[in-house]
Amino acid sequence: MILVFGSINVDLVARVATIPGPGKTVLAPSYDRHFGGKGANQAVAAARLAAPGRVAMAACVGDDGFGRESIDNLVANGAAADLIRFGTTPTGCAFITVDAQAENAITVASGANLEPKAADVPEALLTSGTTLVLQMEVPFAQSLALAQRVRQAGGRVVWNCAPVPDGFGAADASALLGASDVLIVNEHEAADIAAILGQPEAGIAGLIRGTTTSCVVTAGAEGAFAYTPAGETFHVAAPRIEPVDTTGAGDTFVGALAVALDEGLSLAQALDLGCRAAALACLAPGAQTGMPHREKM
Ligand code: RIB
Ligand code: NA
Repeated sequence: MILVFGSINVDLVARVATIPGPGKTVLAPSYDRHFGGKGANQAVAAARLAAPGRVAMAACVGDDGFGRESIDNLVANGAAADLIRFGTTPTGCAFITVDAQAENAITVASGANLEPKAADVPEALLTSGTTLVLQMEVPFAQSLALAQRVRQAGGRVVWNCAPVPDGFGAADASALLGASDVLIVNEHEAADIAAILGQPEAGIAGLIRGTTTSCVVTAGAEGAFAYTPAGETFHVAAPRIEPVDTTGAGDTFVGALAVALDEGLSLAQALDLGCRAAALACLAPGAQTGMPHREKM
């Protein structure tokens, strides 16, 4: 099974001509509300592609309308929500501006995403058949604790290091690499991690040499690159599309890759499913709307 431990947000999205800089105000005609949060997006992406009943999410939402609707949305998309708790703070909320080129800027108010605990996940759920999917919008220490339990049980850890948290140090980055089977980052995050580890020139490929971690670097329209500890490198191209909204494209990639690995497909096949699913997700507004179902792939 695929267990996503991570964030749930409601995304409030304003479309603007130009994303404002510091001290600037711009007017947008209105705003849209979408379900989001990197964790929830990855869970929905996976649930739409996986066989029924294979995806569950563990998370915290606020005891509010956004939280209850977010849970209903996960269930409606086929992700089990039994491990989602109501916390004591409001449901996470992301304030997103999308510009005329479909680029975005995002501020996340974490709220209840600061409350999930590794201990919320019962031991009996963690087996050699578990694929744990993590991101960086819930406390790192809790994600790490759960990753270590999954590895202990013989399961697999897919870790999307997005966003790289403020104050993320070398010890954290080493722990992240040490606890991941597949680390997924974009080009900026890859460079940040290499810099944090004091090896900016090594690049991510150099950092994982001789470890047990494979690294996937997503590159938007250029597709994705994979680096294995044995020194193998491969590239998968992305389908050409005219994006409507790229928010959540990376999350779609991660969810799809997890499904492929859970099904026993190769890393190269997982990259391919990820790139194709992510391209489709960019064709509709919001993070989740355009995420494909398996029969569309
Ligand atoms: O990756 C996209 C997501 O990041 C959005 O849905 C938003 O909630 C932020 O967490
Ligand atoms: Na989209």
